[in-house]
Amino acid sequence: MEVIILDSLDEAGELAAGAIADLVRRKPDAVLGVATGSSPLSVYAALGRRVADGRLSLARARAFTLDEYVGLPADHPERYRAVIERDLVAQVDLDPAAVHSPDGTAEDLPAACEAYEQALAAAGGVDLQLLGIGTDGHIGFNEPGSSLASRTRLKTLTAQTRRDNARFFDGDVDAVPHHCLTQGIGTIMAARHVVLLAGGEAKAEAVHQLVEGAVTSMWPGSALQLHPHVSVLVDEAAASRLRLAPYFRETWTGKPDWQGL
Ligand code: F6R
Repeated sequence: MEVIILDSLDEAGELAAGAIADLVRRKPDAVLGVATGSSPLSVYAALGRRVADGRLSLARARAFTLDEYVGLPADHPERYRAVIERDLVAQVDLDPAAVHSPDGTAEDLPAACEAYEQALAAAGGVDLQLLGIGTDGHIGFNEPGSSLASRTRLKTLTAQTRRDNARFFDGDVDAVPHHCLTQGIGTIMAARHVVLLAGGEAKAEAVHQLVEGAVTSMWPGSALQLHPHVSVLVDEAAASRLRLAPYFRETWTGKPDWQGL
């Protein structure tokens, strides 16, 4: 696991977008794993700038979202399908038909989860997975106690996550769904490269547990310690509880450019 402490999430966004650009140069039809929420916004903005000035094309790339709320009407603006279309697809040249998400409106939710796993497998798996992390340590919507081997399935959101996400529902926690479909931790671990972004003091404990805690389902992000290629991009506030921060700074300062993420 490589931990990079940066001045801002904007810098993190540039780095992550650079890694995606390198990947797409090598493999134009790469499979991107995309997250919703605040953390990846700087990545999507940086990708948008690269596409706009002709440095990058995502026209042949494919994308899979991490998760989706259950119980929101199909036309709700906070459905993650709608969020990813607004935050990412509208800014780049991705084909909307190449963007996949679990179907939170399905009658048969277990079948929708199984279909999503099959679609991921048929696409050849995720090349680069963008992640945020919840204040309670969740990745995707794998809340504390989630199986570290889990695959896409129905989960119940914690009260803490619903409070955190109320900001997307005009501050009304009662409007935040209780349930979601999410890629499991096992699904996320199958991605070939994981790039996690976290900013702000509220994420400091989750980042500490992810990087320096024991591997435990109580801090689901800690499972990433078992993944061979993880880049953790954090701002100073999110890094504020890292005991190894001086080491991570020294490592990043000495890293040659050609190595990339
Ligand atoms: C989003 C997702 C979540 C978020 C996490 C952090 O698709 O799966 O794990 O990444 O809740 O959210 P933000 O970035 O809004 O703080």
